[in-house]
Amino acid sequence: MSSAFSIPADIVTLADYERHARTRLSDQAWAYVSGGAGDEVTLRANRDAFDAIRLNGRVLADLAGGDTRVALFGTTFDHPILLAPVAHHRLACPAAEIATAVGAVGARAGFVVSTESDTAVEDIAAAATQGHFWFQLYIQHDRDFTLALAERAARAGAKAIMVTVDAPISGMRDRERRAGVTPAMLGEAVHLRGARPGPVPQAGLGQSLVFNGFTDVAATWADFARLRAATRLPVLVKGIIAPEDAIRAIDEGADGIIVSNHGGRVLDTLPPSIEALPGIVAAAAGRVPVIMDGGIRRGTDVLKAIAHGAAAVMIGRPYVHALAVAGPAGVAHAIQILRAEFEVAMVLTGCRSLPDIGPGVIWAPPRA
Ligand code: FNR
Ligand code: LAC
Repeated sequence: MSSAFSIPADIVTLADYERHARTRLSDQAWAYVSGGAGDEVTLRANRDAFDAIRLNGRVLADLAGGDTRVALFGTTFDHPILLAPVAHHRLACPAAEIATAVGAVGARAGFVVSTESDTAVEDIAAAATQGHFWFQLYIQHDRDFTLALAERAARAGAKAIMVTVDAPISGMRDRERRAGVTPAMLGEAVHLRGARPGPVPQAGLGQSLVFNGFTDVAATWADFARLRAATRLPVLVKGIIAPEDAIRAIDEGADGIIVSNHGGRVLDTLPPSIEALPGIVAAAAGRVPVIMDGGIRRGTDVLKAIAHGAAAVMIGRPYVHALAVAGPAGVAHAIQILRAEFEVAMVLTGCRSLPDIGPGVIWAPPRA
């Protein structure tokens, strides 16, 4: 029997990790991690859209002295691949977010800790002191608790707060529901201990699911402004698809925008993130960095995202798969795979550093 943390020899891509992860996770955990909302149109589109973009090969460029560095919110990262906030890593590995943090440090990747992690932010920080971690915040029904949680994350060493705004209510996750995933199965969200619970949407026959009190307490731009004013850290907004919302967020003091459809987990038939990205980049007009996530599985996807104006990318499911297969070593390996593929793609498109990656790397069919 191989040890829990050894990397199977036939793993060379993130897809290989996904295949192995399927055999390590329970049916419920698999449905939770890999599923999306509704018919999973957006989930599939996140991938299909990347595959449909063609690259433009360039040759004999002078690439001496190249690198993949990127500066974001006062930190210089060796490469532009971050770990997206994902809830409940214990589903994948007993050491949960500690294992992820160790893997992230090993591969020098930024890690965004979820509000709904299984491990307290202070403990993750202790494991990730050489790394740079950010904290993802959901604006809770209990607003004072939310502000206190942001402050707690800052005290623990978070370098930025990423407020996720695209999931005020859980999406219709049919695959999860069929598999029988329950909140109890996912485990307690340790950061939310002591928060005043909000109303749980629940419709009886003939009643509205949400327009019966739930929406009266959902977060608004005013809550975002209050949070922005209350923390000294950079505040990033995650889950932007509409350019108007990007402009509003920046006007309200956001320091960065994350173009994301939550990995296709909330509103099905949203456009793929890579398709929404250029409009948001144009709307941001260089005022703040724009990061994207959703469907990044190959180094060529990273290159395409940056060519479309992203400053950096985040990956979600792929590192959870790697965590399930090989713990911290798997996480580090998965990031290293993606980074290596990205560097090869840079070389083959004639790019020496991130600023070289522009529209020119995308193939445009010659006009007849
Ligand atoms: C997520 N995502 C997420 N986002 C967030 O802001 N807070 C969270 O707690 C979670 N939890 C979560 C759990 C699981 C199992 C998944 C798969 C995703 C969304 C995540 O940050 C990211 O937007 C997507 O995962 C990106 O898409 P890919 O890389 O999974 O295709
Ligand atoms: C999810 C929530 C936790 O996507 O963001 O599962």
